[in-house]
Amino acid sequence: MTKTKIAIYPGSFDPVTNGHLDIIDRGSKIFDRLIVAVLENPRKNAVFSAKERLNMLDLLLEKNFANVEVDYYQGLLVDYAEQKNAQVIIKGLRAISDFEYEFQMAMINHKLNPSVETMFMMTSSKFSYLSSSIVKEVASYGGCIKGLVPDSLYDLILKKFDVDMKCNKIV
Ligand code: PNS
Repeated sequence: MTKTKIAIYPGSFDPVTNGHLDIIDRGSKIFDRLIVAVLENPRKNAVFSAKERLNMLDLLLEKNFANVEVDYYQGLLVDYAEQKNAQVIIKGLRAISDFEYEFQMAMINHKLNPSVETMFMMTSSKFSYLSSSIVKEVASYGGCIKGLVPDSLYDLILKKFDVDMKCNKIV
């Protein structure tokens, strides 16, 4: 009997971007089960609450991907992976600038639990400049976030920053 291949795609998803969705879409085609796990990044203060981040992912993923589930965990990623019997952690890499941090994370996670493998997927080039931080910066000034995040999230994001969106020059 072949073993079910379970992967975890972890992140703070503060908020979810089209770059994250691209990795989820591609990851879901490789693994039998993909668990998108909202975790806390101790290096960042989240703008959206854990509940809001989970709701965003549920809204986007629940109906669209049969083998993708969404979850929240507070603690070490490798402990969560073990709890879920996941063999793989997927991370998206956008540019060389991501590499140093992700390399360190992969190493420490391997040290903490060598049975969980970290695999990197290169972000599609059209999303290589995209990050949750840049979305928040643009949105905080009422800049146009079309194409950066799924359409269904505009309202939630703009409400958080109490702004209206100006999109007259978008390419
Ligand atoms: O989207 P992010 O902010 O880059 O995601 C980072 C995240 C949440 C995956 C990372 O901070 C994490 O794994 N947090 C849980 C605590 C942990 O296991 N840290 C790594 C070992 S010290």
